[in-house]
Amino acid sequence: ILSTVTERVDAELMDAAGEDLKVVANMAVGYDNIDLDAAGERDVVVTNTPEVLNETTADTAFMLLLAAARRLGEAERLLRSGGWDAWGPMQLTGPDVWGKKLGVLGFGRIGQAVARRARGFDMEVLYHDQYRNEEAEQELGARYLDLNELLGTCDFISVHTPLSDETHHLIGATELDRMKPETVLVNTSRGPVVDEASLADALAEDRIFAAGLDVYEEEPEVHPRLLELENVVLAPHIGSASVETRDKMAALAAENIVAVLSGEEPKTPVNG
Ligand code: DGY
Repeated sequence: ILSTVTERVDAELMDAAGEDLKVVANMAVGYDNIDLDAAGERDVVVTNTPEVLNETTADTAFMLLLAAARRLGEAERLLRSGGWDAWGPMQLTGPDVWGKKLGVLGFGRIGQAVARRARGFDMEVLYHDQYRNEEAEQELGARYLDLNELLGTCDFISVHTPLSDETHHLIGATELDRMKPETVLVNTSRGPVVDEASLADALAEDRIFAAGLDVYEEEPEVHPRLLELENVVLAPHIGSASVETRDKMAALAAENIVAVLSGEEPKTPVNG
């Protein structure tokens, strides 16, 4: 099976595929759509496509961060609707990005690639992760903070954790309340890491400044209240959507399938 994030690969699907099923190659780095226990019980190898999408996904996170801060979506809607009648001194102003504090939540390969971009904007990089990574801290001049400190300190928070039982609604009402009113929240990881209803409340009440989202709890559905708000930039899960990167993801997924079917080790397995 060559799957993408839109397919749930569970016990039922694997049983329907039958005993010949040897490999599920997910064309994504995240594999929360696949039941790894069910795969293990059936001796099915599961693979993903890490690394090849790091830089492209980091670009998307930074694009959303800039667009949300500088109100690009709202500005474009104003212009296209014919509502832009003149330049105004404080029209459509948002906070500066350069020189501010960026909090990276989940300091894996994509989170670190975002941190590298932030350095070019003279940002102070702070991070939180399950594990401290002192080598990356040194390389990127990043500082570790506990989650609550990160939430209360940063001007920008970019989420890069995988989805698991531990990270489901990692950002909920309590966490949003800890953020400053100037905060811009960006999520390019998985929708359910952020509680969308609580985020819609926080944005509607201007408890945080803005958000940039690429992923949603019930894709392709988007929480209806988010769709009504001006201070959120919404993208349809395009984090890795560059031509080059999608080609590399497809090729890696195909190579993994060929390897397993030839009795060889796949390049990027996620289970044993
Ligand atoms: C991934 O790779 O996990 C993305 O969400 C799909 O590009």
